[in-house]
Amino acid sequence: MSQNFYITTPIYYVNDVPHIGHAYTTLACDVLARYKRVRGCDVFFLTGTDEHGQKVEKAAQAKGETPLELADRVMKRFQALWEKLNISHTDFIRTSQERHKKGVQALFEKIQAQGDIYLGEYEDWYCTPCETFWTELQLMDGNCPDCGRPTDKLKEESYFFRMSKYQQALLDHIEANPEFIQPRSRRNEILNFVREGLRDLSISRTTFSWGIPVPGNDKHVVYVWFDALTNYITALGYPDDPEGNFAKFWPADVHVIGKDILRFHTVYWPTFLLAAGIPLPKKVFAHGWWTVEGQKMSKSLANVVEPNMLVDKYGVDAIRYFLLREVPFGLDGDFSHNALVHRINSDLANDLGNLVSRSTAMLAKYFDGVLPAAGELRDVDRAFAERFPEAIKKVDAHMDELAFNKALQVTWDLVGAANKYIDETAPWALAKQEADRPRLGTVMYNLLEAVRIVGLLIAPFMPDTAGRIATTLGEDPQELSIAGRNIWGGLQPGTKIAKAPPLFPRIEAE
Ligand code: MSP
Repeated sequence: MSQNFYITTPIYYVNDVPHIGHAYTTLACDVLARYKRVRGCDVFFLTGTDEHGQKVEKAAQAKGETPLELADRVMKRFQALWEKLNISHTDFIRTSQERHKKGVQALFEKIQAQGDIYLGEYEDWYCTPCETFWTELQLMDGNCPDCGRPTDKLKEESYFFRMSKYQQALLDHIEANPEFIQPRSRRNEILNFVREGLRDLSISRTTFSWGIPVPGNDKHVVYVWFDALTNYITALGYPDDPEGNFAKFWPADVHVIGKDILRFHTVYWPTFLLAAGIPLPKKVFAHGWWTVEGQKMSKSLANVVEPNMLVDKYGVDAIRYFLLREVPFGLDGDFSHNALVHRINSDLANDLGNLVSRSTAMLAKYFDGVLPAAGELRDVDRAFAERFPEAIKKVDAHMDELAFNKALQVTWDLVGAANKYIDETAPWALAKQEADRPRLGTVMYNLLEAVRIVGLLIAPFMPDTAGRIATTLGEDPQELSIAGRNIWGGLQPGTKIAKAPPLFPRIEAE
């Protein structure tokens, strides 16, 4: 029986257009989703858009459209970008959808029915751009501690969730499940936060109307984070579960998020679920933030990196590779055009591209493109071939920890070893002597087999490139599974292999 795997991205606000930060979260999830699929898992990969709230209502007003018209417009930009980036999501949820509204109301009612939601009065400081309430103590000189902008004092009737009641249960859960919050440093941050004490949480608003009405009191709409977080279960069909996805895929294997929204995912969300008696997600992984050429990305600095432009200029696989290779997942990183061009030229054009073009060109030249069988193995061949199963084990372990850059590093060590194998065995010298033909055949077989496996290992990261390598080798580009574990010796002697066109053209620095 195949294992189920449920992975989610945050749902993206529609009051911003997609940039490199959004692309990063989604790409990481796509790589993991693809990886789990090639390992034979049944994967549900969810993304979507977060469409409610005061900001969207205001932005729509300013543009003279309805909030839904605005959401429709921006949502399409996210969908178009995901298509361009080769994102393989299973479902795309919009919080304006009926299925979502129904599920949010059901969750609200469930928690209310058991006495953990009550009507009270709310007074706090609200940062409208961040859609976040702050206590007096948290403010920095009266301004929002996150963005530094002024906050408004708000007093309104509001429903409250008894979050304080779940403080101990949440602490116990975090302590008993070291994997729950990753990376480790983030876990400590949250433990300290929870230990300081949880207040009850205001979960409805009366100051705007673009949202999901509170069941039985439509003066109120459900607070955006209660609404947004619930997408992770409404997309699966909660509460009715007509297609059985909730029963099959919940609890999620991992919610991948940026570090800025960690508290919502590891304090608010789990306490809602605890109150509703729903199991908690197995893992929340918070990645770091990208700066651009050393600066925070912001509209006012006009340095927002537009992913469509990058893909047009460098190609989708180069961008996919760069973002996951450059920075350890979990840490902050800096995006620079120089670093990107350097990676493309050295890792992709030089190391990988050369390996594939040299190997296939030599096969064309020495064997008319027909793969010979390997003959007797020497130590150098054995040492080379043995690296592959070992590397696959390491890649598995790194992927399970979302250490994407390490998985790529291990794969590039193989690429390096293959290029070195060419230098050590010197096929061009062997080609000069008829007596060395069997030896030349062995070397060529091993090389192309190495190329095949490297192609499979990079498939989750660079699906197009992996498909092109598979096609070159006469393999099925749709069948990039390593689940069968035909680790060494999968290529059939006699296969016709064409000379590969360059995979990655070198880029001249501007
Ligand atoms: N709508 C909420 C999430 C609700 S999930 C139930 C939200 N949306 S967002 O569009 O603002 O951000 C979505 C994701 O993009 C977050 O994970 C955030 O960390 C990520 N990024 C936004 N800017 C980023 C960078 N500069 N760098 C890396 N990731 C960044 O928050």
